[in-house]
Amino acid sequence: MIDVKNPHMRIGAVDKTLMHEQWQNLRDVYRDLVKDGFLEECQILAGEAEREDMVFSANQTFPWLLDGEKVFIPSKMRHLSRKLEVPFYAKFFLDHGYKELILQSDHFFEGMGDLIAVPMGNKLFSGYGFRTQAQVLVEVSQLLNIEIIPLELVDERFYHLDTCFLPLDPQTALLLPQAFSRVALDTLEETFPTLISVPIEEALNFSLNAHVMIRGGRRVAIIQKGNPITSRFLEQAGFKTFHVETSEFMKAGGSVFCMKMMFW
Ligand code: ARG
Repeated sequence: MIDVKNPHMRIGAVDKTLMHEQWQNLRDVYRDLVKDGFLEECQILAGEAEREDMVFSANQTFPWLLDGEKVFIPSKMRHLSRKLEVPFYAKFFLDHGYKELILQSDHFFEGMGDLIAVPMGNKLFSGYGFRTQAQVLVEVSQLLNIEIIPLELVDERFYHLDTCFLPLDPQTALLLPQAFSRVALDTLEETFPTLISVPIEEALNFSLNAHVMIRGGRRVAIIQKGNPITSRFLEQAGFKTFHVETSEFMKAGGSVFCMKMMFW
């Protein structure tokens, strides 16, 4: 089932040869981080027929460590075409010893596309409004036993929180302010001593969909090419930055952060 789920999507626009090349290059950046000892392993989940968005592996689940136990919540995707992806990701986590925590709510929840942890922090932020629904967040918070701060999203081009919010550590976050409601912005201003706005041109080029990782005191970021201002902020914050091209995936509304899922 192929449908238009966000304003970036253009059916038939993707150059498939280029798409495969870009995906392989991104995979190789992660594999190199394994070789270099920064990451422990990189596993590839095979795609399945009739699931054209399955490559966006940030959305189908939310994995977490709950008092030292590996758990995951399967998402309740808003679009039928994406609901079909969830069992494949659930199987991956079950096969890797994760315990499944099932949401009783019928409201939508789109995993790590909307629910984002602050590196080295102790709370979660969740976007809501376009995909995830605010009503589900109390239950998610109870299941994971952690505070969740809801943030209302108001610009449909930034439909998932991972398209407009990039926390670097408990003190610092990059964001596109106009993607948030006034109340959400006030909350962010109260939470982060340093909030840095990026230009909308870069946010539309998915600069905030970068993947930032902090491990053993080392900071690494992977970001879509052509985002000099966002990249400079990352470098100033101590991140070694890898630039990749994800143009064919941006035509579906996603870039680096959407195309991976961290597990441990
Ligand atoms: N076409 C997909 C959708 O609209 C893109 C998902 C991108 N993922 C993300 N975490 N922002 O559902």
